[in-house]
Amino acid sequence: MLTTVDNKKKYTIITYGCQMNFSDSEVVSSILNDNGYQSSDDHINSDLILLNTCSIREKAELTIRKKLQSFKKLKKKNSNLKIGVLGCMAERLKEKFLTEEKMVDLVVGPDAYRDIPNLLRDVEIGNNAVNVILSKDETYGDIDPSRLKSNGISAFVSITRGCDNMCTFCVVPFTRGRERSRDPKSIIKEILKLKNEGYSEITLLGQNVDSYLWYGGGLKKDFKDATELQKKSSLSFSKLLELIATNFKSMRIRFTTSNPQDMSEDVLNVMAKHKNICKHIHLPVQSGSDKILNLMNRKHTINEYKELINKIRRIIPNCGISHDIITGFPNESEDDHKLTLELMNYVKYDFGFMFKYSERPGTPAYKKLDDNVPEKIKQKRLQEIIDLQQKHSFNNLKDYVGTNCEVLIEKESKKSSQFWCGRNSQNIMVVFPKKNLKPGETVSVKIIDNTSTTLIGRS
Ligand code: 5AD
Ligand code: SF4
Repeated sequence: MLTTVDNKKKYTIITYGCQMNFSDSEVVSSILNDNGYQSSDDHINSDLILLNTCSIREKAELTIRKKLQSFKKLKKKNSNLKIGVLGCMAERLKEKFLTEEKMVDLVVGPDAYRDIPNLLRDVEIGNNAVNVILSKDETYGDIDPSRLKSNGISAFVSITRGCDNMCTFCVVPFTRGRERSRDPKSIIKEILKLKNEGYSEITLLGQNVDSYLWYGGGLKKDFKDATELQKKSSLSFSKLLELIATNFKSMRIRFTTSNPQDMSEDVLNVMAKHKNICKHIHLPVQSGSDKILNLMNRKHTINEYKELINKIRRIIPNCGISHDIITGFPNESEDDHKLTLELMNYVKYDFGFMFKYSERPGTPAYKKLDDNVPEKIKQKRLQEIIDLQQKHSFNNLKDYVGTNCEVLIEKESKKSSQFWCGRNSQNIMVVFPKKNLKPGETVSVKIIDNTSTTLIGRS
């Protein structure tokens, strides 16, 4: 019998932004595959192009708008081509997208992906379709993600959605809604499937993984109304992590992102106890100044953050620590900036992600604070923290020279076809000669040199 595959409509998903978006694209792909569509890498010949978008900074949105403009010609050539916008920009701009970017047919927010097949039916008959309703309990827990562009070695597993933290600069609570946790049974089922398919590493994902709390479903903020039984049998992040580490001893486990005020000592103890939990914590701080942290509505002080760092170093001496920092937040003075440099000198992070403050419409900072640090100063401060981070990264990585690291081989090194690359437990990239090793294998690599981003080894 002839295959019907060729009759299927082809779609391409182009993903921007955070790991959560990449994970969501796999959910969308699974929904489309179950509804008669076929994934394709060739967007030029696709019937449907979906952009999974990011709103975190203005620059991200501009990049996506440019991409959309580049589809104008394609659309002229192929009048059947449909274009959809998913994710945070869809949620933020809603129907406005249809008027602002004329070639868009479909706008779907992060909690409405199950509705895509219905919306596509509307689009097929010539209507525009929009669903940006945010949900209190959607976690897509029962959907088996289609692993897009997967290396078959490491995969993301989402455990929470949304965020309740309301950092004043951040658009995420508005675009991804309230924080909710995913049913642990569905998490375990997904990891088991990954294990059976030969995956060796999972990264548990959430905007704020440490506040994971399962008590039968619903918003975290409603936990206070839960029954005594629900409270007693509830599952925190440390318990979930331990459950996964114990049940999947052969797999490496990572998680991101942690919020300083929610990271418990229990999580650190579980990390220290289980060899298969990678020794890396991504711990955004955003600023080294209490004044700025307060304006950002970050719910901890710098002293509390330093205490947490000390605790991490005491409980997990070899733990890699990384950060996110924003420069030029409203009212940031030169002294506040110096406090950020001082904090960096205290922690000596292994790596970090550094950004200039970008005002996001609708956020509390947009409403209440003046974006009053000149662009030039934002840039100068950003460069200073990047330079300092590079120095710390180089020095920290130098300490690995002469030691052996356990590395999970992921792929060929970008720089040389003679080398593999993969990450060590601390999430640092290691490159080393291929020899007769294969991706997916975990090897002990002797480190012989380093740059500020990479360890160079001999297998
Ligand atoms: N401007 C600049 N950076 C931002 N981030 C979030 N919102 C903004 C913004 N408005 C950064 C924070 C966060 C990371 C994911 O993105 O550092 O931790
Ligand atoms: Fe945004 Fe803060 Fe939530 Fe992170 S913790 S997603 S920065 S509001």
